[in-house]
Amino acid sequence: MDLLTHYSLVLLGIWEELNIRLEGKVAIITGGASGIGAATARLFVQHGAKVTIADIQNDLGNSLVKQIGTEHITFVHCNVTIESDVQNAVDATIAKFGKLDIMFSNAGVLGKPISSILDVDYDTIKDVFDVNVVGAFFCAKHDARVMIPNKKGVILFTASASTVVYGTGVSHTSTSSKNAVLGLSKNLGVELGKYGIRVNCVSPYCISTPLMLNGFGIDKQKADKWFEEGGNLKGASLDEQDVANGVLYLASDDSKYMSGHNLILDGGFNTTNVALTKAYKKLFPSND
Ligand SMILES: NC(=O)c1ccc[n+]([C@@H]2O[C@H](COP(=O)([O-])OP(=O)(O)OC[C@H]3O[C@@H](n4cnc5c(N)ncnc54)[C@H](O)[C@@H]3O)[C@@H](O)[C@H]2O)c1
Repeated sequence: MDLLTHYSLVLLGIWEELNIRLEGKVAIITGGASGIGAATARLFVQHGAKVTIADIQNDLGNSLVKQIGTEHITFVHCNVTIESDVQNAVDATIAKFGKLDIMFSNAGVLGKPISSILDVDYDTIKDVFDVNVVGAFFCAKHDARVMIPNKKGVILFTASASTVVYGTGVSHTSTSSKNAVLGLSKNLGVELGKYGIRVNCVSPYCISTPLMLNGFGIDKQKADKWFEEGGNLKGASLDEQDVANGVLYLASDDSKYMSGHNLILDGGFNTTNVALTKAYKKLFPSND
């Protein structure tokens, strides 16, 4: 073996050991200034990607960019409910980093925590659907615009565990919007498969991000306790980093043949229903 081959193999070994999974890739993350999006932005950069954060929270987005380093990441003000903003985020990313490989359409809102259909009105529906569904459509459209000619790309959406389990206290508007996102993702995966573009969803259980804390009006400590007690898997709790890890897998070539998938990160929450056990314990305490 000549010296050059030897050193190349050594370098390859180090590379594989580091397990860098997005080297040379360019990604946009909507809702990337906070929570799941921010954790994913950090992880993508650690894995060699260049990232654009597209969000409405300018201060938070710009401060994240400062922390991570402007050579790796940039912030673009983007309200996903406005098509020209999404178009601009895509075009600005290509202007800065030269291409677009990954779109993580993650921006979302919870909306009013209304539990009865009788309290729903047009504005309540519109506020949630504009961001969660219309925003996802605009992201899909403008990624596809640049990914189709390249005949490759990855589009990911943040849906929710509310796409697989119902009546848990998540509002009708939020639940139905996330099911719409899942439907879009699956239909889109069929249309774009012929161009080599993979489309998948990631669907988390509850995490104490600002979306949840503000939505339910509770502090992090209480929310963490609630989500832990309500969860199926004990001794662990879901956080933003866990979701980012799932997104990294779906974004990287590790999942190169996965499309049309809904990656549920819920510790098995959707596979169980404790209502019957609870009723049994309440009705027959002496048998317990
Ligand atoms: N936290 C949870 O328990 C949970 C569970 C299931 C799904 N999700 C989904 O995860 C995604 C990320 O939420 P998070 O939990 O990290 O909350 P978060 O509040 O930390 O982040 C949401 C981000 O979306 C941005 N955003 C809101 N409206 C926007 C708009 N019109 N245009 C651009 N950006 C906008 C916000 O500024 C914020 O940075 C959302 O789609 C949410 O529905 C969260």
